[in-house]
Amino acid sequence: MEVIVHENYDLVSRAAAAIVAQTLNAKPNAVLGLATGSTPLGLYQELVRCHRDEGLDFSQVVTFNLDEYVGLSKNDPRSYYYFMRENLFRHVNIAPQNIYVPSGTTDNYQAFCTWYERRIQESGGIDLQVLGIGSDGHIGFNEPSSSLGSRTRIKTLARQTIDDNARFFDRPEDVPIYAITMGVGTILEARQILLMANGAKKAPAVAAAIEGPVTSRITASALQMHSDVTCLLDTDAASQLEMIDYYRWVQAKHPGAPVRASRPHFSSHPTVRYDAPPARSPVRSNGVGSL
Ligand code: PGA
Repeated sequence: MEVIVHENYDLVSRAAAAIVAQTLNAKPNAVLGLATGSTPLGLYQELVRCHRDEGLDFSQVVTFNLDEYVGLSKNDPRSYYYFMRENLFRHVNIAPQNIYVPSGTTDNYQAFCTWYERRIQESGGIDLQVLGIGSDGHIGFNEPSSSLGSRTRIKTLARQTIDDNARFFDRPEDVPIYAITMGVGTILEARQILLMANGAKKAPAVAAAIEGPVTSRITASALQMHSDVTCLLDTDAASQLEMIDYYRWVQAKHPGAPVRASRPHFSSHPTVRYDAPPARSPVRSNGVGSL
C-alpha cells in the first residue's frame, strides 16, 4: 500500500486526477471503476478541467460505478447515476454506451448483479478503481460484516451510513435502506486501486483500514490484500495513522527510488497526452511503489 498525505482536499483531488490521467494516457481505452459521494467531487472537477483545457480524452474509456440506491431511477437527482451525469459524464467526451451504473430500478436484481459482473469481465476487467471510504470503513456499500469475497449484490445499509448520507435527502427517512453494490471481491479484482479520504471524520476508518487487522468489520481493510493500492489522504483524514512519519519518509524519498517496471497490462500508445503541470499537481513518481 502506498500512503500519500497532502495538506488539503484540493491537492488530494489533483493528485487523484493525475493518476487517472496517467492511466488514460497509457491506455486510452482503460476501464475505470468510479465512486460517488462528496470525496471524489474534486477529482471529477479536475478531470473535467483536464478534458476541457488539456484534451484529456475519454472517447474510448469504459466506466463501471460502484453502487446505486435501490428504488431511485436514473433521473432522480439523488441517484448516483444522476450524480455521475451531472458531475462528470456530461462534461467529457465519454460514449454513453460505455457508461455502466448499477440499476436501482431493475425488475430482477439477482439477474442484474450477475450481468453487471459479467460486463466487467467482458470489458477486460477494471484497470483503475476509485474508492472513497465510509465512516464505518465501508468501500462501495460493503457495510461491516460483508464477506471479503463478496460480489455485486443487494446490501442493507448500516444505520451510520444512512445517517451520513441523510445530508443528500430532504428528510432522513427518505434515505433508501437498500443499495446494489459491487462486492469486496469485485473491487479487489481491479488491477489498480485509488482510495481517497479527506476530513477528520474519516480518520478512524482510515487508520483501521490501513493499519488495523484485515477484517470484515472494516471492509476497506481488505485493500491490504491487494498489490497496487494508493491511498490519497488529506492531513485530517491521516491524523490517526500511527505510522504517519514512515509514510512521509517514503514520500520524501520517492524521487531517488528505483522505478519498478511499468504495469504490463497497459499498452502504451497514447493518442492525446495530458501531463499534469508540475506546479499544480503533486503527482507521485511514476510507478514507484511502497519502497
Ligand atoms: P463520502 O462517502 O465521499 O460522501 O464521504 C464515502 C463513502 O461512503 O464511501
